[in-house]
Amino acid sequence: MNREDTVKQRYAAASQAPEAALCCPVEYNNKYLDVIPPEVIEKDYGCGDPSRYLHPGEIVLDLGSGAGKICFIAAQMVGPSGRVIGVDMTDEMLAVARRNAPLVAERLGYANVEFRKGRIQDLGLDLEALDRELKAHTVSDSTSFLAANQLADKLRANQPLVADDSVDVVLSNCVLNLVEPGARQRLFADLFRVLRKGGRAVISDIVSDEEVPADLQKDPKLWSGCIAGAFTESGILDAFIAAGFYGIQILKRNEQPWQTVEGIEFRSVTVQAFKGKQGPCFERNQAVIYLGPFKEVLDDDGNRMERGRRYAVCDKTYQLYKEEPYQSHFAFVDPSRQIPPSQAAPFDGSGTRERHPKETKGQQYSITSTGDSCCGRPGGCG
Ligand SMILES: C[S@@+](CC[C@H](N)C(=O)[O-])C[C@H]1O[C@@H](n2cnc3c(N)ncnc32)[C@H](O)[C@@H]1O
Repeated sequence: MNREDTVKQRYAAASQAPEAALCCPVEYNNKYLDVIPPEVIEKDYGCGDPSRYLHPGEIVLDLGSGAGKICFIAAQMVGPSGRVIGVDMTDEMLAVARRNAPLVAERLGYANVEFRKGRIQDLGLDLEALDRELKAHTVSDSTSFLAANQLADKLRANQPLVADDSVDVVLSNCVLNLVEPGARQRLFADLFRVLRKGGRAVISDIVSDEEVPADLQKDPKLWSGCIAGAFTESGILDAFIAAGFYGIQILKRNEQPWQTVEGIEFRSVTVQAFKGKQGPCFERNQAVIYLGPFKEVLDDDGNRMERGRRYAVCDKTYQLYKEEPYQSHFAFVDPSRQIPPSQAAPFDGSGTRERHPKETKGQQYSITSTGDSCCGRPGGCG
């Protein structure tokens, strides 16, 4: 059996009877658990709580949704104006999640969760739609096999399981480690594809403090048990960088390992990463000042900025830095005369450079003003 079949078989069984070895202790906010049926709660195989970082109104995709617990918590976090889609490849897990969705909806007073069948490294392919199509096409030889492949490509193009740029937040709880190493580049590329510009991924997963040796990776029980396929703690961040994400941050790192195998520690982390730094850069005379506390920072584009100095940035970077996760680390200097976007020239991105205050104020700026006196004001001048 290949790894994917082993994973499917283990989680099919774990959907019928809870398997203690797959349960990693997680602290959830109890107020969101009240509406979730016990059958779902006891088949929780997550290792973190990525749903706690959601906001009302967001469209959420949960990769490897299992019995649906994270989706049902997310449904409450995003509220009736938001929407939640869970994707899983194991029929038995989908069945648990789907039969409990109406119960949760009834208790909440709204229905905003659905579950779809797919492989998270191929979010274009709706496996139930493919099943329906294949009923009419027996695959018995190379010709019919190639025709079935074409059918799958057509479904990906015309009726994708999850469309491009359609999701605000991709969540996943302890699933990425189960995907074959050979499919991980595609997994991250697809995760990027489905997010809208400005959207983010919030992923909880098990990571290792050292590379997992080849003999442990071959152990099917350790693989399906979320151990052998763990990314290293820096490897998971590298995978986001390679896929084009920015603003990558470890939101939570459990100090205590969940398990230790042959001296290698496996612990849960939750990582956040944003989509949307791609695109043209225009010069609008804006500057940013890194506020500290470190002496300098290096951003994802290789700009090294010293604390307290003004740096020239393009309009795109300026707008990105005004949002999460950067906002609180910078002060923003607008030019006194705005350059309209239609008149802005391409930004010279050949290297980091400081921006002289005269560039933002204008060369002719020569005002002298004494300012209001703050003497005697409660609170002084601060
Ligand atoms: C460790 S459980 C986590 C379930 C759920 N996220 C939770 O927090 O309880 C892994 C789940 O991911 C599903 N899964 C594993 N690999 C998958 C893949 N490549 N595509 C889709 N689902 C996958 C399994 O069927 C199983 O339901």
